[in-house]
Amino acid sequence: MRQFRAIISKHKSNKTSSSQQATPSTTPATHPPATTKPTTMSSAPLSGKVAVITGGTKGIGASTATLLVQLGAKVVVNYGRDSAAAEKIVSQLGSDKAYAVQADAGTVAGVEHLVKATVDKFGQIDILIPNAGILPMKTVESCTEEDFDRTFNLNVKGPFFLVQKALPHMAPGSSIVLISTTLCHASTVNGPYTLYCSTKGAIEQLTRLLSKDLLARKGIRVNAIAPGPTATDLFLEGKSEQVLKVLAGFHPANRIGKPEEIAQAIAFLCGQGAEWVSGQTIRVNGGMA
Ligand SMILES: NC(=O)c1ccc[n+]([C@@H]2O[C@H](COP(=O)([O-])OP(=O)(O)OC[C@H]3O[C@@H](n4cnc5c(N)ncnc54)[C@H](OP(=O)(O)O)[C@@H]3O)[C@@H](O)[C@H]2O)c1
Repeated sequence: MRQFRAIISKHKSNKTSSSQQATPSTTPATHPPATTKPTTMSSAPLSGKVAVITGGTKGIGASTATLLVQLGAKVVVNYGRDSAAAEKIVSQLGSDKAYAVQADAGTVAGVEHLVKATVDKFGQIDILIPNAGILPMKTVESCTEEDFDRTFNLNVKGPFFLVQKALPHMAPGSSIVLISTTLCHASTVNGPYTLYCSTKGAIEQLTRLLSKDLLARKGIRVNAIAPGPTATDLFLEGKSEQVLKVLAGFHPANRIGKPEEIAQAIAFLCGQGAEWVSGQTIRVNGGMA
């Protein structure tokens, strides 16, 4: 009981002195809650925050960028090839709030460039969302070494090294949100998802391990979102109306999710109200699994 009282009073004293704490501490359990980091005077909950989103120009990434800007953040939207889509989202969000960076998010050089471009532009990183991913439909027999490397590079290696490169620029109270898939938790899933789900299984373990390490050493929360089937290019490509109808039927609401619905859950993990949420993979799928 005495131990508990000591911990509680330590927390209270952290709360009162936290506005003076600017550099990362190495002592566990002494980090201030996310809301205590100094921000500009504004009612927008993410005002003063800078978010980096790989694959931020389309689908879930673009919806998340849009919502985070609405909540007051500045966003760096990374993309791979489609500069027209990048220009479009920057013009929609405003060039003072959104900045597009072309970089292959599946390479170490690419994520290094992304971090440098972000810090040069906005000076800090508060929210990191390694979101870019690909979904090649590959069974164990049909998967080539090139398929394997390409998929693991973008879906796992990129997020891993993006975290590594971004960490020196992230203060206590920052948040990392990784992206898995509900398919890792669904009992109805078939062979062609084998390669993809293998990468997302790695992402869930990365979330679990990083969350313990980074909260303890740096005061940074790490969580993951596991979306169900969501109406984006990645999911819709190559699927007939009939297939989409069958897949919608796996959901109690008989429909596919919308990227904006996934963005809401990501934004929750980035902002106020989630200070005590870390190490979780949250399924956002309308009750599918
Ligand atoms: N949609 C779903 O049903 C669903 C379900 C569960 C999980 N997820 C996960 O959610 C994440 C986002 O998926 P989404 O459906 O929103 O995808 P999407 O609509 O296909 O968008 C992909 C984004 O990633 C970018 N990108 C692709 N390759 C890249 C590379 N090498 N480097 C940098 N950026 C790259 C694309 O930009 P360019 O076009 O310019 O290359 C685009 O901005 C992925 O991790 C995916 O696995 C999706």
